[in-house]
Amino acid sequence: MDMKALILSGGRGTRLRPLTYTGAKQLVPVVNKPILWYGIEQIVAAGITDIGIIVSPETGEAIRQATGDGTQFGAQITYILQSSPDGLAHAVKVAQPFLQDSPFLMYLGDNLIRDRLTSFVDQFVKQSLDALILLKQVPNPTAFGVAVLNDQGQVTQLLEKPQNPPSNLALVGVYLFSPTIHTVIESLKPSNRGELEITDAIQALVNADKAVMAQPLQGWWLDTGKKDDLLAANQIILDETPGREIAGHIDEATQISGRVRVGANSQVINSTIRGPVAIGQNCHIENCFVGSYSSIADGVRMVDVEMDHSVVLEGAVIEELHQRIVDSLIGRRARLVHSPKRPKASRFMIGDDCVLELT
Ligand code: DAU
Repeated sequence: MDMKALILSGGRGTRLRPLTYTGAKQLVPVVNKPILWYGIEQIVAAGITDIGIIVSPETGEAIRQATGDGTQFGAQITYILQSSPDGLAHAVKVAQPFLQDSPFLMYLGDNLIRDRLTSFVDQFVKQSLDALILLKQVPNPTAFGVAVLNDQGQVTQLLEKPQNPPSNLALVGVYLFSPTIHTVIESLKPSNRGELEITDAIQALVNADKAVMAQPLQGWWLDTGKKDDLLAANQIILDETPGREIAGHIDEATQISGRVRVGANSQVINSTIRGPVAIGQNCHIENCFVGSYSSIADGVRMVDVEMDHSVVLEGAVIEELHQRIVDSLIGRRARLVHSPKRPKASRFMIGDDCVLELT
């Protein structure tokens, strides 16, 4: 098959601030694996191995370093620089020399989808379509691209983040296109927010009577833009993670129940770990309770901590807190420690846009 894939991992990533001030939102981990990698694995599982990844000047190098040339996924990855985030259709334009006249699957690098993409690719090929989009009913369509279908399931109208949505069918971040898309993008004008919108490009295909179809997405889909979405994604993936896998060292005083993974060179001392829980490599966990649906990334140190349903990113240090941490997202290298010098006072150094809910 000469089909290619284009993953969009540029953009600004403002919604997961403050986590994404220093990193790409597509590299934020879900169960200790970057969101972007789930997309790559899905694409390869659908039989597409020639993958272009759109990156921005700010975060492109980090994405390239983490993800590599594709060998680890059984794919060949080409990085394509988009110098400014001028829209999803603009990204396709920038990628045209890579895509040439191949049909392609476009995947938004911050989306997480659990349906297999194979049936979607099959329908596109079998019906010789110009565009196939995936749709999901959502309670808040104003936050998405929205589609209207006729009785035959053909797409008649598309609107990007409409104030008065004509339907509750949101465009999921996976699209299939024939090379005809390049022709309509050439004559596209920027939208009110100054972007070349892929929804406008698909609307132009509809207006030109091209074959544009939609398929409903059966399983769950997360646009992992916000903290609660990220915690939910973490919970769903942990639920699907099989078995117990302990590579690190667990001492005799530690109790482990359920599906727990502990990475190499990690130490768990005198603690209770109640799965599903994932602990990365080179962690030190001592005198802790780590409850279900927690993911702890590499190089984290936790001493005298109780935690539930939370995500801790790389290199964070949490020590001697006398309150349980719940539903929390703790950023890379963050330090959350008890201060013995001023026992009744808290001393903070909190970055921009952080949220602290104290009781
Ligand atoms: O998540 C689904 C939604 O994704 C759709 O319903 C919308 O129709 C679609 O426009 C898009 O909306 P978002 O506001 O979520 O798009 P966002 O700006 O977050 O960009 C999505 C991905 O594409 C993200 O990984 C960043 C990347 N991107 C974005 C822009 C604007 C680029 O690579 N280049 C860009 O110029």
